[in-house]
Amino acid sequence: MGVPTKTAPVGRLTRTLPPGSCHLYLETPLLRQLSTNEKENTMKAIVQDRYGSPDVLELQDIDKPVVGDNGVLVRVHAAAVHPGDLIVMTGVPYVARLAFGLRKPKNRVPGRDVAGHVEAVGQNVTQFQPGDEVFGWSTTGVLAEYSCAEEDNFAPKPSNLTFEQAAAVTVSATTALQALRDRGEVQPGQKVLITGASGGVGTFAVQIAKSLGAEVTGVSTTRNVDMVRSIGADHVIDYTQEDFTQSGQHYDFILDNAEAHPLSDCRRVLTSKGTYIPNRGSGGSRWIGSLGRIAKALLVSVFVRQRLRPFVSMQKKEDLVVLKDLIESGEVTPVIDRTYPLSDSAEALGYVAEGHARGKIVIIV
Ligand SMILES: NC(=O)c1ccc[n+]([C@@H]2O[C@H](COP(=O)([O-])OP(=O)(O)OC[C@H]3O[C@@H](n4cnc5c(N)ncnc54)[C@H](OP(=O)(O)O)[C@@H]3O)[C@@H](O)[C@H]2O)c1
Repeated sequence: MGVPTKTAPVGRLTRTLPPGSCHLYLETPLLRQLSTNEKENTMKAIVQDRYGSPDVLELQDIDKPVVGDNGVLVRVHAAAVHPGDLIVMTGVPYVARLAFGLRKPKNRVPGRDVAGHVEAVGQNVTQFQPGDEVFGWSTTGVLAEYSCAEEDNFAPKPSNLTFEQAAAVTVSATTALQALRDRGEVQPGQKVLITGASGGVGTFAVQIAKSLGAEVTGVSTTRNVDMVRSIGADHVIDYTQEDFTQSGQHYDFILDNAEAHPLSDCRRVLTSKGTYIPNRGSGGSRWIGSLGRIAKALLVSVFVRQRLRPFVSMQKKEDLVVLKDLIESGEVTPVIDRTYPLSDSAEALGYVAEGHARGKIVIIV
């Protein structure tokens, strides 16, 4: 049982917090004037107050989040960034602004994937206590020294991973797991093809597909062929030399992270009852992104036996635990491409935007 945190210290004053998991300090002049511990209550964080290119990201001192009764406050050691963070940063496709904020991001601090140690817990928290090493996803942003979320957003950090590696796991590995296991229902011996096999999702997908007993083909550019083979792919297609849609092979399951081919071409190399997942959430129209391709896949799937199944991954604590077990058994190991200090987060997002990451991009905090 952890140390209950019911009040937020502001100098010699305390404020009673409303129920919930996390709160931000109020920035009223009165509280500022009264505060004698302001340094203790602030943290370094990347903030964005408008949509745009990476230069909208600024390193600032802002108020630390404060745990409510159900919250876990994490001292962030590492955070991962990925293409989903680009959508929040740019506000493109525009349809995404319905969720993230119409004129500017609702959440000033970007990012979701985090690893660190527990700094404080609310009084209703039972699974963690200060000092525990955790990984997971946060709701107050993670490009910051501290982040906060409910306890079910976290799981114990895999014992054989560094914080940098653990931060890399959450969204990408969960997406790969849910695509292969839940959507694809991949069975031992089935043939699986993964495009973008060298990327954040792809490097996890190759390893998880192998752990499910599949025969795995990865698709990547020339410089990544050896890496994709080294993480377990049985076959690697260099897309600069060969077009997998013309290979004459048939696959039971295709996870298409790149969507570089028309849907009809991908269907040609899918078995008659195979499953195809269009998984490129970015790209497409500035207004609706890849929703056009998703709608087409859904429409076509009404008339064919093949299963064309777009999906959005869900953050589930039980899947973090499944991934922890896969990692500790040695079946899955995160592939880290580059790390950046917090102050270079804009550069890191710029690199993600190039679309050719070799594994995961991690921010060290
Ligand atoms: N469904 C969901 O809930 C969900 C969740 C997370 C992510 N996603 C989506 O999944 C996709 C992949 O994410 P990620 O984190 O893996 O991205 P990433 O790390 O940027 O990787 C992208 C990969 O695409 C490959 N690629 C780029 N251009 C290509 C082309 N023309 N032809 C073939 N491959 C190409 C790159 O490999 P090379 O360098 O070898 O070309 C790279 O490995 C993103 O679009 C993301 O939005 C969906």
